[in-house]
Amino acid sequence: MPSPIEAEIHRHAQRINAVLESLIPPDRKDFLSEPSWYHLATGGKRIRPALCLMVCEAFGGDSDRALPFAAAVELMHNMLLVHDDIADGDTVRRNKPAVWVKYGLGNGVNVGDYLLARGLHAVMMSPVEPATRVKLLEVYLETFERTVEGQALDINFRCNERFTAEEYLRMAILKTGHYLVIGMLGGALVAGASEAVLHCLRKLGENLGPAFQIRDDLIDLTAGKGRGGVKGSDVREGKPSILYAHALSHSSPGECERLLDILRKPREETTEQDVAWVIGLYERCGALKFAQQMADKLIAEALKELDTLPVEQQPGLRRIITYIAERTT
Ligand code: IPE
Ligand code: IPE
Ligand code: MG
Ligand code: MG
Ligand code: MG
Repeated sequence: MPSPIEAEIHRHAQRINAVLESLIPPDRKDFLSEPSWYHLATGGKRIRPALCLMVCEAFGGDSDRALPFAAAVELMHNMLLVHDDIADGDTVRRNKPAVWVKYGLGNGVNVGDYLLARGLHAVMMSPVEPATRVKLLEVYLETFERTVEGQALDINFRCNERFTAEEYLRMAILKTGHYLVIGMLGGALVAGASEAVLHCLRKLGENLGPAFQIRDDLIDLTAGKGRGGVKGSDVREGKPSILYAHALSHSSPGECERLLDILRKPREETTEQDVAWVIGLYERCGALKFAQQMADKLIAEALKELDTLPVEQQPGLRRIITYIAERTT
């Protein structure tokens, strides 16, 4: 039984799916339409486009006019996931073989590029004043650039012996925060919200983004992540997670050495016992608790940020922020 907020997100998702179908007609482009739909049909929570439509409505806008941008945001997200699985070496996404596994590496790269191209097209189709459309495009491109910067940090911080929680925050704001709130910014722009509102939504991303990524790092240790029941994919790929950052500075030299040895192993050599040992260490050194406390603090900050918005916009946004904090998938 979906909770009221899940039902609300689902209602928005159905509107988005219809737009996605018109943007990427099945069977239109050889070697692109089919794998694109293979991936898009795996679903996902559709949180970002739902946030776009909800914010647009909250600020008195007509959310039909925000639909192309909302779809563009979901396309950017899915493009990032397709490429992210290649970069991370993950073979399963949303409990289905990842695009690069099913169609090959080259097709995986192309499908990601195609989804982004269609996303840009969707932004340009937005039924708004030309000046607003330029702003939407600006936000879209800026966000994409920041996210790529964050993804570059993620890859290059792997197995770094001095990785800290502060660096994690910087990386998570870049790789996750900007594109988590891009839909909100777009929805607010379509509704004609003020510069002050946009500023507040950006600040919100700086708290909500890392909170979302911390939840994601915790969910990675469970079957909820959707890797076909495999837990601890991040351990296998040497990911600079918040748990890794905390463990490095709260474990004995011997434990740190073993942690690094396991994270540095090629994925195929990492055993179930290795993963279980790392999870045990995360538990022992307080990393799991620290991560949850940090996420709770960031969510509290995000909710405080909402207080700077006009009161009548708060309840829906509050519900979705709480949902983000408590999600298990
Ligand atoms: C996963 O995002 C990638 C991150 C930014 C951590 P979601 O958890 O929103 O993925 P889906 O779309 O619901 O599968
Ligand atoms: C990815 O972070 C964030 C993106 C920009 C896609 P992760 O690598 O943790 O995302 P998952 O766990 O594969 O979904
Ligand atoms: Mg990944
Ligand atoms: Mg990644
Ligand atoms: Mg993850």
